[in-house]
Amino acid sequence: MEIITAVKGFKDILPQEAGKWRYIEETARKIFTEFGFREIRIPILEKTELFKRGIGETTDIVEKEMYTFLDRGGEYLTLRPEATASVIRAYLEHSLYAADPVARLFTIGPMFRRERPQKGRYRQFHQINAELLGLDDPRIDAEIIIMLIHFLKSVGLSDLSLEINSLGCTECRPPFKESLIGFLQGKEEGLCGDCRRRLITNPLRVFDCKVEQCGEIIAQAPRLLDFICSTCRDHFEVVRESLKTFGLSFDLNTRMVRGLDYYTKTAFEVTAGSLGAQNAIAGGGRYDRLVKDLGGPDIAGIGFAIGLERLISMLPVKDEDFVVVPHLFIAALGGQAQERAFALCNRLRMMGVQTEMDYTGKSLKSQMKRADKLKSRYTLIMGDRELTEGRAELRDMVRGTQETLGLDTLEEVIIDTFRIISKLVDR
Ligand code: HAM
Repeated sequence: MEIITAVKGFKDILPQEAGKWRYIEETARKIFTEFGFREIRIPILEKTELFKRGIGETTDIVEKEMYTFLDRGGEYLTLRPEATASVIRAYLEHSLYAADPVARLFTIGPMFRRERPQKGRYRQFHQINAELLGLDDPRIDAEIIIMLIHFLKSVGLSDLSLEINSLGCTECRPPFKESLIGFLQGKEEGLCGDCRRRLITNPLRVFDCKVEQCGEIIAQAPRLLDFICSTCRDHFEVVRESLKTFGLSFDLNTRMVRGLDYYTKTAFEVTAGSLGAQNAIAGGGRYDRLVKDLGGPDIAGIGFAIGLERLISMLPVKDEDFVVVPHLFIAALGGQAQERAFALCNRLRMMGVQTEMDYTGKSLKSQMKRADKLKSRYTLIMGDRELTEGRAELRDMVRGTQETLGLDTLEEVIIDTFRIISKLVDR
């Protein structure tokens, strides 16, 4: 019978890869906590309306990429394509702002977008997401970028490029939109079908287009940065100055608009080495209207999300660096020894010693082979004969040395040995 495979674009994270994932997630938890962020865990499924309103009806994500279905109860539900809208929903639903509008929240988990699967682009992917609500000071924009870059460097990434732009606000966007439409009118012939449609529905989204012929036209288009109002300009100036003061270098990318409609003012993306500009490791920006658009009070926000698959593909570590190996393998020979080993094995595990044993009762040679294969640090050799003599042999598999242990003190000695070596083998 044929096996059933995973859904296209959905990936398993195998045990040998899981160590890297844990390392990244634990480092994020630590660093984000140091910057005052608290974890929030939100559902994977939300009402479709949340993303339509939050991300924008005429974005690629909402128009083409969401996993939406009609629930048996007659309601449209969507597997979340991103976390920002959900975090705000939770912030509003639980009135977190009532006690203190300032909230620094992070969440880690899977997102779902029905994009064309390719390297660095999956249909289920994972993000580390940070959102800072209730503060509109431009130094906060710099602060969140500083935290992002610090985290990426801390997990070992180098060769990072930070690009920033300002997307203006509701004041400065309309004149820019008008100018953009004016520029594109008459050039419809050269644009793809999507861009021709965007021209009517959401002109700013032409900057997201990946079609080459559109790119050539859009490269000549007016720049949003030239239209931003004095408030947005001053804000952006302080963001840039704060980053410079902190010694963080960046490039200005006036064509970067990000693929979601909720952004205002500062937007940023981080790319790394060979991944290239199409495959940003992280992206984010300010969204000062989103909380209000989702039915809440007038509260500013800014945040980012890091794509974990992309980040992990760039890590300068190997799966082997995170392999978990047993501390001890018990090679038990004979019925009595097996019985004793069974109890010992489970007791040691309860004491924090990662212990394995073999139930097949095979020869010592084949059990030692198994211990080798598992890369066990120590092997305890226990046969019926050794038992009658009141002893067992503890073999150091790295040094190749062997020590005789008395059965009465066996457990304590092993636990002590483990305590001493645990710092070396435990990861
Ligand atoms: P985004 O740019 O759509 O922003 O996604 C952020 C990151 O998620 C990307 O830079 C990329 O690393 C990763 N990513 C996105 N789509 C895929 C995919 N199909 N396969 C693999 N990785 C992917 C957001 O999601 C915003 N919510 C970020 C944000 C938070 N803005 C403010 N707060």
